[in-house]
Amino acid sequence: MISGKILYSYTGIFDTPDQIIHATEKAVESGYTKYDVNTPYPLHGMDKAMKLKPSKLGYVALVFGLSGTLATLLTIWWMSAIDYPIVIGGKPLFSFPAYVPIVFEVTVLSAAIMTVVSMLFFFFKLPNNSHPLHGTEYMKKVSADKYGISIQADDPKFNESSVKKFLESVHATEIIPIYWDEEEVNHKNKILEPKFIMFLIVVAIITSGVTYFSFNKLMYMVPFNWMMDQPKLSAQQQSPIFADGFGMRQPVAGTIARGSMVYQFKGQPDLAGVKLVNPIPISKESLALGQVKFDIYCSPCHGYNADGVSRLRGQFPNPPSLHSDKVRNWSDGRIFAVITEGQNTMPSYSSQLSFDERWAVINYLRALQRALNAKESDVQ
Ligand code: HEC
Repeated sequence: MISGKILYSYTGIFDTPDQIIHATEKAVESGYTKYDVNTPYPLHGMDKAMKLKPSKLGYVALVFGLSGTLATLLTIWWMSAIDYPIVIGGKPLFSFPAYVPIVFEVTVLSAAIMTVVSMLFFFFKLPNNSHPLHGTEYMKKVSADKYGISIQADDPKFNESSVKKFLESVHATEIIPIYWDEEEVNHKNKILEPKFIMFLIVVAIITSGVTYFSFNKLMYMVPFNWMMDQPKLSAQQQSPIFADGFGMRQPVAGTIARGSMVYQFKGQPDLAGVKLVNPIPISKESLALGQVKFDIYCSPCHGYNADGVSRLRGQFPNPPSLHSDKVRNWSDGRIFAVITEGQNTMPSYSSQLSFDERWAVINYLRALQRALNAKESDVQ
């Protein structure tokens, strides 16, 4: 050992591939475990001679690939079945076949990226890039036309004289000891060094800044706005498609749009009173909906309690109280007719309230009426 220097390994140089393979087999037989072989090009049969186990990198790919699969599946499931459920083409909300391509892609992507990242940073220990063999005569030779084996000093079976003897016995043409450099002895994993982290942050800022500047300022690439700028007709717009130039069309004659039942008793409120039956049973939900709609659409004129206390301060004829015997004895259908068609000065509320909402308003009105004309039995 040279003073002040620590031995890293003993290396042997060979002239032919056969010799190095033979030497490697012998090294394995002799029980050396901490050694490496360097050749200018990959040698067939070397992995067998070194009895190399398959790389652990495969497990990294497996774990991260499966994590990608799981994360993608969970994300898509949450987005399309929980957060924003939309039925597309009658398919179930979680439609697995549709997700196969994207799940596959993310699996491959995350496996590939994480394999490279862990290879560089965990297996190769980047950004640490020094090694005792770097820059040695040995390395110059084995990267040109020689073949070499390096048996490390920290091998449990290492013993200077016996390693030298071993290298001679397998006919190494040259036997060179390799020593650690100062820097390599004191090497630390540099990933978490502030300098390196600062470097990463600076690179991230510069990359995103340059990308932002060139896309948004220099080239001005418009963001995806296909949904906003799609060819469509807005209300009142002209259309060249139809001969009459109208963009807004009447429904096809004789058809009824879904949810738009026709009111059959136009101009016949009394007939409606006899024929129309309230299909919505009184329930908590119906009363709640009725209250909301009554307070919005009826209370400005009729008052919150339907007693005719208008909030319009004489700007509109005051309506009568809806607690009159007349209205209390009207059937639900008769009131429905008033809401639907209006009555004298009261306008129609058919465009503001759907059928079901009108019935809900009537249910609520009945509750108001009963509250003001409670029977003995109601309090018992
Ligand atoms: C713009 C004010 C106004 C609004 C809003 C209004 N009404 Fe009226 N309503 C009147 C007036 C005025 C009359 C009396 C009409 C008449 O002279 O026959 C009336 C009459 C009625 C009648 C018949 C009463 C009777 O004794 O003949 C009922 C029932 C009725 N309204 C229910 C409603 C309901 C339910 C709503 C909410 C959907 C509503 N109104 C919204 C002004 C209004």
